[in-house]
Amino acid sequence: MPTKNRKKKFIGIFDSGFGGIDILRKIVKGLPDYNYLYLGDTARAPYGSRSEKLIYEFTKQGVDFLFKEGCDLIILACNTASSDTLREIQQKYLPKHYPQKKVIGVLIPAAEEAAKATLNKKIGIIATERTVHSNAFKRELIKLNPKVKVFQKACPLLVPIVEYGEQKSKATILILESYLKPLIKKGIDTLILGCTHYGILEKEIQSIVGVKIKIISESNILSKKLKSYLARHPEIEKNLGRNGTVNFFSTDMTDKFISLGSKFFGQKIKVKKIFLK
Ligand code: DGL
Repeated sequence: MPTKNRKKKFIGIFDSGFGGIDILRKIVKGLPDYNYLYLGDTARAPYGSRSEKLIYEFTKQGVDFLFKEGCDLIILACNTASSDTLREIQQKYLPKHYPQKKVIGVLIPAAEEAAKATLNKKIGIIATERTVHSNAFKRELIKLNPKVKVFQKACPLLVPIVEYGEQKSKATILILESYLKPLIKKGIDTLILGCTHYGILEKEIQSIVGVKIKIISESNILSKKLKSYLARHPEIEKNLGRNGTVNFFSTDMTDKFISLGSKFFGQKIKVKKIFLK
């Protein structure tokens, strides 16, 4: 491949919808020089209550699209897609179809931070039903420290709350309290926000759990983790384009994607509609 093309590679960010744009914003803030492609599968979101098999199929299609558009590295910003699907993609799909390319997730970076942060070894996780059911966070945390005790809570109402901009309403605070109280009762000192959307609720969550519980929000740790990943993978890093561009793709074109996406990204975004198959 001519050098000219090799220099144009992108970092891809895949999410079921637009929650991952919050993660993208923080990544771009920390690493502004690279070129990014964001894909949100909004036509088929939310993934959180779907079957593992279907999530695998959807994620594979998203990964294919981003690779074909010129990504060499993809971050699955979606926790639900990262839970069981990521291992399957890394261990089976990539070696067969894209041996030179990489897909990484958001679970391990968050688990690493939580394992470092906890003092009493009691860690709470809030996530979608699928992510909780997969036990992926629990598995990673126990790998990092077999002594940790992990308490999980599926919070299916939080994604729609964020998508409808209801984070400050009284009802939301009551819902958050009912999700968080059982975890607080277990004596956790660290809480992982294991879903793209939950970072948006960080302030409300912190005020319910109190300052003694350390919150691990993926959007706050990923740019640091990506920087260290790229330093360890010069074969990927050397081919990345550095024009500071960000392009957005979505499988459905809605006003909501543009308005909420722009809000999450902190500036007006332009989105191109695509089909996945
Ligand atoms: N992106 C998903 C996640 O992080 C939340 C939205 C969904 O359920 O698709 O788990």
